[in-house]
Amino acid sequence: MVAKRGIGSAAVRGRRVLVRVDFNVPQDASGQVADDRRIREALPTLNHLRSSGARTILMSHLGRPDGRPDPKFSLRPVAHRLSAILGQPVPLAEDIIGVRALDHVSRLENGQFLLLENLRFHPGEEANDPTFATQLARLGELFVEDAFGVVHRAHASTVGVPQRLPSVAGLLVEREIRELSRLVDHPETPYIVILGGSKVADKLPLLTSFCGRASTLLLGGALSFPFLVAGGARLGATPVEADLVTAVDELGRAAAAAQTRLVLPTDLVVARAGGAVEVHPVGAIPEDAQAFDIGPATRAAFRAALPGARTVFWNGPLGRAEDPRFAEGTRDVLGSLAAVPGYHVAAGGDSARIAQELGVLNGFQFVSTGGGAALEFVQGLELPGLEVLPDA
Ligand code: 3PG
Repeated sequence: MVAKRGIGSAAVRGRRVLVRVDFNVPQDASGQVADDRRIREALPTLNHLRSSGARTILMSHLGRPDGRPDPKFSLRPVAHRLSAILGQPVPLAEDIIGVRALDHVSRLENGQFLLLENLRFHPGEEANDPTFATQLARLGELFVEDAFGVVHRAHASTVGVPQRLPSVAGLLVEREIRELSRLVDHPETPYIVILGGSKVADKLPLLTSFCGRASTLLLGGALSFPFLVAGGARLGATPVEADLVTAVDELGRAAAAAQTRLVLPTDLVVARAGGAVEVHPVGAIPEDAQAFDIGPATRAAFRAALPGARTVFWNGPLGRAEDPRFAEGTRDVLGSLAAVPGYHVAAGGDSARIAQELGVLNGFQFVSTGGGAALEFVQGLELPGLEVLPDA
């Protein structure tokens, strides 16, 4: 994808700079920030703006409050965490449009920050309502897109505002484009994709996009189950999205025609009705057993496929990785990446958190902050929040 005009080219001193960030962070039971990775990933842009003397207005969403204020989804805990990280107060503006918001913004001094309350407390955000977008745009003189995680959404803050203000990409968005483009524009081959997770129907377009582009697809997790069933296996009491069996059968044929090798599990770690955890070959899963992870033979086969790969992309755990009894498949396969030369990228959903918890982050050269956005980018789809930005 072509590079976008970047923040480095924009004059920001003394100007009101409206920055879209993705502070949609996981929260713990008490509402506090459970993982601040997305906040920290915005720091290069925020530090640049601070040292350049900009007056920075940050805007983000958190969760899906459906166009209504909901204290559960307040950005207040994020404002606290950000203040601590930046070492200076970042006040939260509860009114994000209108006179009070404008007044708040007008009191900003060079190098200061203001965080607007959750954009999705307003129905106009997700609807990309023109009036709402105009009111938001009025707060700034320049727009910076640094919320890579939401560039696949055509919302007021991602599309409406940049249509109304001079706009540039922030340092995080520039980096995400640069890194993820290596998977889309002529990736170095062999290109191996490791895919797992559960939402099989959602991932079919992603899988299809790799046919002919990737050399090998290593499939694990619930994602592999319809493929195994399509191949004639019976998986005991494992829930399988049966309506997908025909679709994956077709996908298997498309992959073969495009010379993309599909590698499926040959054994699985299962839990029996009584709770016992056992390993069985795919052809011999007991009737009362549910599969939760790839087995040791599959792990060895997946590991053996990796040396020699020049590009590796991973999304989604190969088993139920949050349960230590079923985390070994993901840990073992991803853990082996650190010793494999090449360019390795993790993206999508919880992938970064899982890799961190399993201690395998060091196997990746780049970990995207994007969930759905990264997966759409990797498919080569047009993303409205990037399309709207001027090219470099
Ligand atoms: C994400 O977490 O993927 C982004 O913040 C987008 O959130 P959304 O799926 O609710 O639009």
